[in-house]
Amino acid sequence: MKTIKDIDIKDKNVILRCDFNVPIKDGNILSDEKIISSLKTINYLLSQNSKIIIMSHLGKIKTDDDLKKNTLLPVYIYLKNLLPDINIFFSKNTIGEDLENLVNKLKQKEILLIENTRFEDIHNKKESNCDLELARYWSNLGEVFIDDAFGLTHRKHASNYGIKKYLPSAMGFLIEEEIKNLEPLINPTNPFTVIMGGAKVEDKSLLIKNILERCDYLLLGGGIANTFLSVNHEVGKSLISPEYINEAKELLLKYPTKIIMPLDVTILNNDHIFTKNINAIYKEDIIYDIGPKTINLYKEYIDKSNLVFMNGTVGLYEDQRFAEGTRSILEMCSLSKSKCILGGGDAVASSSYFNIKDFEHLSTGGGATLEYISTSKLKSVEDIC
Ligand code: 3PG
Repeated sequence: MKTIKDIDIKDKNVILRCDFNVPIKDGNILSDEKIISSLKTINYLLSQNSKIIIMSHLGKIKTDDDLKKNTLLPVYIYLKNLLPDINIFFSKNTIGEDLENLVNKLKQKEILLIENTRFEDIHNKKESNCDLELARYWSNLGEVFIDDAFGLTHRKHASNYGIKKYLPSAMGFLIEEEIKNLEPLINPTNPFTVIMGGAKVEDKSLLIKNILERCDYLLLGGGIANTFLSVNHEVGKSLISPEYINEAKELLLKYPTKIIMPLDVTILNNDHIFTKNINAIYKEDIIYDIGPKTINLYKEYIDKSNLVFMNGTVGLYEDQRFAEGTRSILEMCSLSKSKCILGGGDAVASSSYFNIKDFEHLSTGGGATLEYISTSKLKSVEDIC
């Protein structure tokens, strides 16, 4: 795919696909890395006198309630503060006459942010299923398409993949730079260790399989670890993905020395917090973090690696009672001689939270980066529509 410098955007009406899927609580943006990372492309388009129509998704939209929770309005306000000298407008509609009027009124060097593209998922998942009618409709709003949503390059959706079918397209600076910075993960120097945390296995099941073929060690934390632990241990009331247990069992048999799981954990039981060995969990316990023995064990793997990639967090770090695992892992990665790359919203947000940022690279991609490591491919960028 062409890059932004290979395509004529001067004075043009440009559709820019960003990944503004950022954590938001009570209207406040908790981690702004993805927004900041998109500024280089936005500023370049402004310098080229373009009219900029920005599209992004935010969260998943399945119910009417999700429509209220996942508005891009906080991102709009944030963007206005970041670019106070630029006229920035917001379209609360993702399709229709009001949106078209806003596009028609847009002048050179002005920006229009369109509401969450996944609002169109409420009608038969049109955005996520890459409905081509929807893609064609959106493409008619502009003359050129720039894809800079690196975090979504593992998905073929109407607004990042479909539109390319109908408009001259190129990738923005963020995707270009991510590809350059992630090179060590594509041709890793072994030993290569992946640390994987986060709540659910669901989305990551195929990725875990692929990653296991590429890495030397997979260190687990969070809900993913609970699911693997539940194959042979009591995990009480901890978060697990039950539908994935059989697969986890098979993977543990296939990779007994590659998959490394917690030896001890921090649990909550009726307002009491304990650190326990993994074979001492009661039915009422809920695992929220890895324990000190696990931290030491994971340190050994981090130190003997040449390359480490961390995706997700190993505990509920926003609650200080369960922050130690994630904080220690980040600190060990940043102090270690091995090259460490962090990927994904939660891992990057946790590094901001603890102000530990000394890494080889902080990637805006979570699932996208994992898929890139395991397939060396960026689906939305490389596949031809
Ligand atoms: C991310 O945060 O990883 C990207 O924005 C992709 O989000 P998704 O997993 O909801 O498609």
